[in-house]
Amino acid sequence: MATAMAEAWMKTFPMEAKTKKSTGKPIPILDVPAFNKAWNIYRDTSMDIMKRFEYMSNCLNFTDKDTAAIKQSVEEFVAPNLEKILDHIYWEKLINDPWLSRWFMDDTGKISNEYVKVRRARQKIFILKIVECKWDEEFWNYVRWVGAVHVPIFGNEDLYIPMRLNIALWGYIHQYLFNLLAEAYKNEPEKLQKFTTAWTKLFWLIIDVYHIDYFAPWM
Ligand code: HEM
Repeated sequence: MATAMAEAWMKTFPMEAKTKKSTGKPIPILDVPAFNKAWNIYRDTSMDIMKRFEYMSNCLNFTDKDTAAIKQSVEEFVAPNLEKILDHIYWEKLINDPWLSRWFMDDTGKISNEYVKVRRARQKIFILKIVECKWDEEFWNYVRWVGAVHVPIFGNEDLYIPMRLNIALWGYIHQYLFNLLAEAYKNEPEKLQKFTTAWTKLFWLIIDVYHIDYFAPWM
């Protein structure tokens, strides 16, 4: 007998209520070359971080042109504004958010300035590594490791940062950086487009690798 929930569901989605008919003999899926190829990509991109980067950058169309654009934007804009950007993220955003700030407090619930400084310094190292623009195995393993320290593996057993907070913070930094760029390059729309396109691709590439260990068994 269907439960009240199931009945309500079936009324809302009548297609779901239809009896499902088997299509017959199951297809041995890996015998189909196209599926086999896709499976190999899935397996390779799960086990080999450089293959993951290769696939993701092909799919996103992240090319040497994007790397050149990022380098140019770093020289012209990001490096001269790095301290300002870090100050904003830590001293304005993180410590004032009702949830994000929880990780910057001492036992009494007050923001620990000393700890904020430590974390800001660690974040600076991470950003400096990104702006080197060396997309090699060492770099991607480092990105993966930084993500992994936010979940209880490899020793940090009492630390768990919910994924939505990472997404919220990445999203916040993304739009904050883009607004700064938009202001700085308002009279150079082509350059602005080039920079923001390249950074958008890089953000998505990093966000993927950063979260690998959030989904360890089925990454
Ligand atoms: C944009 C997303 C984020 C980035 C890029 C990032 C970056 C980093 C980096 C580079 C480290 C230091 C790793 C090391 O060198 O030891 C770290 C550690 C840490 N992060 Fe994040 N993080 C992000 C999101 C968050 C969020 C949303 C929180 C929670 C508010 C958070 C809380 C922590 C904590 C508690 C540590 C451990 C610090 C310690 O070892 O005491 N992170 N993060």
